[in-house]
Amino acid sequence: MNKIIEKQQLNENTFSFWINSPEIAKSAKPGQFLHIAVGGAQILRCPISICDLLGENVRFVMSVVGESTKILSEKRIGDELDILGPLGRGFDAEKEGNALLIGGGIGIFPLLLLSKQLLKRGDYVQAILGFRNKDLALMYEQFPNVSLVTDDGSLGTKGLVTDIASDIIRTQQIDKIYACGPKPMLKAVSNLADKEDIWCQVSMEEKMACGIGICRACVCKTSAGSQTTICKNGPVFNSKELAWS
Ligand code: FES
Repeated sequence: MNKIIEKQQLNENTFSFWINSPEIAKSAKPGQFLHIAVGGAQILRCPISICDLLGENVRFVMSVVGESTKILSEKRIGDELDILGPLGRGFDAEKEGNALLIGGGIGIFPLLLLSKQLLKRGDYVQAILGFRNKDLALMYEQFPNVSLVTDDGSLGTKGLVTDIASDIIRTQQIDKIYACGPKPMLKAVSNLADKEDIWCQVSMEEKMACGIGICRACVCKTSAGSQTTICKNGPVFNSKELAWS
């Protein structure tokens, strides 16, 4: 169960894995995550977004950002992974309308499965993907109608994803926005959605421990003034549910 059947190194720090996992594949939704035990001295599991599904197989893409992800990146084809999941609340792919997907850096990975499901339903899908520079730009060719943005202008438009979003929202008559990426980007997307009066879901990233809503290591503030757990009540929220200041 959860056997690695394919592994590919996408750049210096980023790896794509396909695992055979009929149980997870059966119920996984875009935006949900896997909580993976890497073994060794690392007690805490790594939360990793689901990137794609095919039959009984599940794909995740991960970047090395510390010791746990380094150990995970060294797993090989044939190894079995100890996984809890799929966990969390994913994107609402059933909502109708023209979709704009906005992804930043490693936040683009969960948007791939979402884009496939929206296209399958017959929705128009446009993507804006942002990266620090062209060397860190990955997998963008797998998205439909993609516009690229980089911090340094080495690929696509120089600037921020939100710089070009307003024009696209109007010309493509966008009805809904889905976003995943760093928090400042999500805050800017949330402000934009408010300004344009468009329904918007964001996927939040946070350090996690239990992954199931018990330890409260992952809480964030809501617009109603309370706190919510990202692992259990998210990671996907309507942008209006959260306090962004
Ligand atoms: Fe424990 Fe979210 S990681 S409550």
